[in-house]
Amino acid sequence: MNYTSENNGEGECECTASSFQTGIITAGHTRADVYGAINMPIYRNAAFEFADSQAIAAAFQHRRDLHTYSRISNPTVANFEEKIKSASGAENVIALASGMAAISNTFFCLAYAGGNIVSSPHLFGNTFSFLKSTLPDFGVETRFVDVNNLEEINAAIDGNTCAFFAEIITNPHMEVANLPEISKILRARNVPMIIDSTIVPWCGFDAKEAGVDIEVVSTTKYISAGATSIGGAIIDHGVCNWKANKKLGLLPKPKGMSRFMFKLRSEIARNVGACMAPDTAYLQSLGMESLQLRYERMSRTAYDLALYLSGHPKVLKANYPKLDNSPYKAVSDRLFTGNPGAMFTINLSSKDACYKFMDTLTVIRRATNLFDNKTLVIHPESTIYGTFTAEIKKIMGIEDNLIRISAGLEDWEDLKSDIDNGLAAL
Ligand SMILES: Cc1ncc(COP(=O)(O)O)c(C=O)c1O
Repeated sequence: MNYTSENNGEGECECTASSFQTGIITAGHTRADVYGAINMPIYRNAAFEFADSQAIAAAFQHRRDLHTYSRISNPTVANFEEKIKSASGAENVIALASGMAAISNTFFCLAYAGGNIVSSPHLFGNTFSFLKSTLPDFGVETRFVDVNNLEEINAAIDGNTCAFFAEIITNPHMEVANLPEISKILRARNVPMIIDSTIVPWCGFDAKEAGVDIEVVSTTKYISAGATSIGGAIIDHGVCNWKANKKLGLLPKPKGMSRFMFKLRSEIARNVGACMAPDTAYLQSLGMESLQLRYERMSRTAYDLALYLSGHPKVLKANYPKLDNSPYKAVSDRLFTGNPGAMFTINLSSKDACYKFMDTLTVIRRATNLFDNKTLVIHPESTIYGTFTAEIKKIMGIEDNLIRISAGLEDWEDLKSDIDNGLAAL
């Protein structure tokens, strides 16, 4: 990937960065600040004033360098979007209020009554609920398939398939779909590939090379830099042929923007109204700047802990795509550079054993989130999936003897001894 950050017409400075890390630091904030502020200030206001009627009319003509009302666009949020654009190498990015806002806006944009989505059932709980319960009320069906079975994916697609959807590493199953192979099928059938890439950031995964058209990300996770705020982003790599989509194909193709992003920016996102707050954009722009450093350390700790636990007598199984026992090791090694994410799971002898283990921990925190600076532990079956019926849990493959751990920035020795104490209690 060529990580370049180009001036988008907002000011005099022009930065061309050659690396991922430098690109993030230099992207955005191109207009000279009146006080010379080094960070993009927080524009915590709803409305922007114009000198005359013609100027405000011009600003409403989708000018990305002008802002009229912060539900539609905001300078601090635009700065954050530029940083993501640089990091992901994407054509266009829109930041929203949460990861779920990114997911729901994406499907509201490309799906239509009578259309269908082909998806893995192994999804984050709210995403599954959105596809299984919310979208059918709007006439959109989701066809759940085994994404490791290419024939099943191909057979599920028909002339009304609006999208294929999967998570980059499924949570909590730790599955990795063979995206380049799936992409060949999807490109032949003109179906866009939408991937939730929350688990592995751009320094570890080149989405465009893997055949991904649109990425959706919960920026609440690594990017917020310590669970500071809730946010999300939709990342358009500008490679999809939207003409084949029954709804978007009817739109004219705007310059420098896909039909998908045009519809999203000019209609869906502003109508749904789940915009990112400027304060969040400020925090998460700072978070982006240390993303790579934190990710390398956290993902290394996740691998080391998973490897240690895979040989522990009290652990039935440790699940992490880089471990030799993982059926996804080959595809994971192909897709990801470095370690595949900072999350892993372990199976213990029973649900009671999981609770006992968790209740003994003192360094690791019992909380529902991922990629905080603090290491977090959760029992997914009784929490994230706790309100789902036994039947749905079976479809989703949620086991009651499984624990999920998200590695943070603490020293590995402290985490290891906390885990040893937890396992000794069993
Ligand atoms: C993989 C994945 N996608 C999306 C989300 C939703 O993100 P948010 O909580 O920012 O809406 C989560 C939340 O945990 C997640 O784990």
